[in-house]
Amino acid sequence: MRQHPDRVRWNTRYQQSPPDFEPHPLVGAALAAELPDGPVLELACGRSGSALALAAEGRQVVAVDISDLALSQLAGEARRRGLNDRIKIVLTDVSSYQPEANTFALVMAAFFWDATAFRAGCGAVQPGGLIGWEALATTPGHDGRASRSRVPHGELSARLPAWFEVLIEEHHTTDQRQSTMVLARRSRI
Ligand SMILES: C[S@@+](CC[C@H](N)C(=O)[O-])C[C@H]1O[C@@H](n2cnc3c(N)ncnc32)[C@H](O)[C@@H]1O
Repeated sequence: MRQHPDRVRWNTRYQQSPPDFEPHPLVGAALAAELPDGPVLELACGRSGSALALAAEGRQVVAVDISDLALSQLAGEARRRGLNDRIKIVLTDVSSYQPEANTFALVMAAFFWDATAFRAGCGAVQPGGLIGWEALATTPGHDGRASRSRVPHGELSARLPAWFEVLIEEHHTTDQRQSTMVLARRSRI
């Protein structure tokens, strides 16, 4: 795993820029949507400001990523803020990670796409819990390699199991990127 291409690539990128520890807007949206009690799982979390913000709200957070550098920066900031008891760091490849089923009040991922991880993430949401996911969106002209880590707008909701209700689905465009985001609730029964 030390030489996993995703780890090498992301460690290199993280070496080149300092973290800002800003939470992702999905955190605010999930809290505003009456997030039930329970722990949070963040997949491909990076140096997650979302994990820190949710831990500060009193949540237990499981933060999963393949970059040891990102996770050590997150763990260091969690210690600095006195939140390390609330954030469990998991260094692994999310495409083979199997979270506990029916467990998490919120499963989230930002700027990441892996169909297997998305399916496992859906299965990890507790009844009444939320899944929030933002992935880069495919745009005309992307080559096949780039498209593997992207999804067309609308596909996140299309891939949700039938027992999820979509609360928010948005297509975001900035100068730098296009992305697609969904927030959905699992039925309570
Ligand atoms: C664009 S960054 C997003 C990080 C964070 N979610 C954010 O919004 O700032 C993509 C993240 O996915 C992680 N990643 C890429 N491939 C992965 C894999 N196979 N397993 C786990 N994490 C992976 C990278 O290390 C990186 O932290």
